[in-house]
Amino acid sequence: MPELDPHAIARLEADAVVLLDQRRLPAEEVEVRCGSAAEVADAIRTMVVRGAPAIGVAAAYGLALAAARGEDLDAAYDALAGARPTAANLVWALDAVRDEPTAERARALHAEEVERCRRMAQHAVDLFQPGSRVLTHCNAGGLATGGYGTAVGAIRRAWEEGLVEHVWVDETRPLLQGARLTAWELDRLGIPFAVLPDVAAGARMASGEVDAVVTGADRIAANGDTANKVGTYALAVLARHHGLPLHVVAPTSTVDLATATGAGIPIEERDPAEVTERFPARNPAFDVTPAALVTTIVTEDGVHRAPYDLSLAAVTAA
Ligand code: MRU
Repeated sequence: MPELDPHAIARLEADAVVLLDQRRLPAEEVEVRCGSAAEVADAIRTMVVRGAPAIGVAAAYGLALAAARGEDLDAAYDALAGARPTAANLVWALDAVRDEPTAERARALHAEEVERCRRMAQHAVDLFQPGSRVLTHCNAGGLATGGYGTAVGAIRRAWEEGLVEHVWVDETRPLLQGARLTAWELDRLGIPFAVLPDVAAGARMASGEVDAVVTGADRIAANGDTANKVGTYALAVLARHHGLPLHVVAPTSTVDLATATGAGIPIEERDPAEVTERFPARNPAFDVTPAALVTTIVTEDGVHRAPYDLSLAAVTAA
């Protein structure tokens, strides 16, 4: 099975962090070489690399590159940490390598994130019934995680077990992470799917064509409130209305116990030109789904259920 090579998504070379340019997928597979921490921060901000665990991995490589180049490490840390605000994994990864910003430590962090994905996918298998038709939003696959994937990893693992019949891929306006990236990944894996306009999800649920919603997360507060790509909240409300489960699959590096509730999660506002260049627009990149609408949160530790303030309390990413 053509699995994405983690090193093809992000890697550290002697003089550069090399990133697969996710902006140009699926049309072209092109790499971007970043020669300094500032260039890595710029690549994160401009979404060369995106997805919560993947930007953490890229930032860790960026700090290791800065150390190897003799850059001011505090300035490098600040530039990388400030590149995008919502994903908890970004600062988590920088803090994890800050005391020892070596290539070995950054590469180990990358490998650990991929391994976490494999473990959470295995835990998630029990949540799928045979013949499941699942809907996913944004891209929470190998591209978003530096390899394997969270929500898409879980779907893939369940499909390998013969449990998934079909995947609905929300196109995910405005940057089309679903239509471009999740579709590209599922196509490579041979998993049956169809891209769906975001606004068509509700009607598919009403007509009985969806059995579960499975998404990733960018930051999970201590009470289980979950920030993910904008549109996830609407899906969660729709899922509840139609009696469908919403499973959030994310590594413990996404869980932010220092943030009590979703109200404390910073929501990134991106350039309105991504929505329309002609008219006034707003472009909030994420939204928060209240814990009450989340059926399970699957981490590499296992399957968490409400009350999340208790079930997540012991979570720490190693
Ligand atoms: O703006 P993006 O593409 O970085 O947003 C990514 C998402 O919202 C993903 O669903 C999330 O990071 C989970 S991926 C493991």
